[in-house]
Amino acid sequence: MSRIALVTGGVSGIGAATSTLLQKSGFTVAANYFGNDEEAKAFSKETGIPVYSWNVADFAASQAGVAQVVADFGPVDVLINNAGITRDGTLHKMTEEQWRSVIDVDLSGCFNMCRAVIEGMRERRFGRIVNISSVNGLSGQFGQTNYAAAKAGVIGFSKALALEGAARNITVNAIAPGYTDTEMVAAVPEQAMQGILSGVPIGRLGHPEEIARGVLYLVADEAGFITGTTLSINGGKYMA
Ligand code: CAA
Repeated sequence: MSRIALVTGGVSGIGAATSTLLQKSGFTVAANYFGNDEEAKAFSKETGIPVYSWNVADFAASQAGVAQVVADFGPVDVLINNAGITRDGTLHKMTEEQWRSVIDVDLSGCFNMCRAVIEGMRERRFGRIVNISSVNGLSGQFGQTNYAAAKAGVIGFSKALALEGAARNITVNAIAPGYTDTEMVAAVPEQAMQGILSGVPIGRLGHPEEIARGVLYLVADEAGFITGTTLSINGGKYMA
């Protein structure tokens, strides 16, 4: 029986690369998304991966969404918390909405989703959770107090949950991607981007597939001794 994997934000960018790599590697994959129905439909048609729409920032919707995936495929063995947003701005200009929306999706989304799967994983004594953090949660980034706080929070969250899951064979790890070739990074102003790229020793953006390879490594049945870690995949931009 193949493992059931649920990927949030799983139809575009790093999430899409992760969904498709897990599928190719023998997992039964369900992809969550929120917002772009056309993109999700096209992704599902192309890959055969079923897609489910809900907002991970919404606790009740996350519970209901996971219940639907479980009803369709069975219990979730592998959860990839990839859904995330940016609302960049220097703090002196940042609105409460910019702050809250990023914390709600990027950090509370991890709580909402983990809370929805953790009891099942505990009962079955197996689980693999990977939370997508960011290089900017480690290093900080001008204009991203909200995002850096959320992504640093994801790392602390992962370590704490790793401690709680360890005795039941539930591993919890974070990945901190660097600047990767996705729509999120494409939205960074050109001038800021030049400065950022000059600080990447490898000299280019990451490919979403390069982050997905890290996820695949961490979710294997054989990865049971790796927990509470943060895997940096950032072209050398920041060496924690
Ligand atoms: N370091 C120091 N100073 C900087 C700076 C930096 N990196 N960037 C800008 N500044 C300075 C400017 O030179 C300017 O200085 P003066 O006032 O002396 O002229 C000042 O800061 C501008 O400040 P403002 O508050 O007016 O900023 P702004 O409204 O022009 O916009 C910004 C600032 C929104 C942060 C914009 O620079 C930006 O979008 N930067 C990119 C942020 C970024 O990297 N986001 C990553 C998104 S992708 C992602 O997050 C994925 C991932 O996980 C890696």
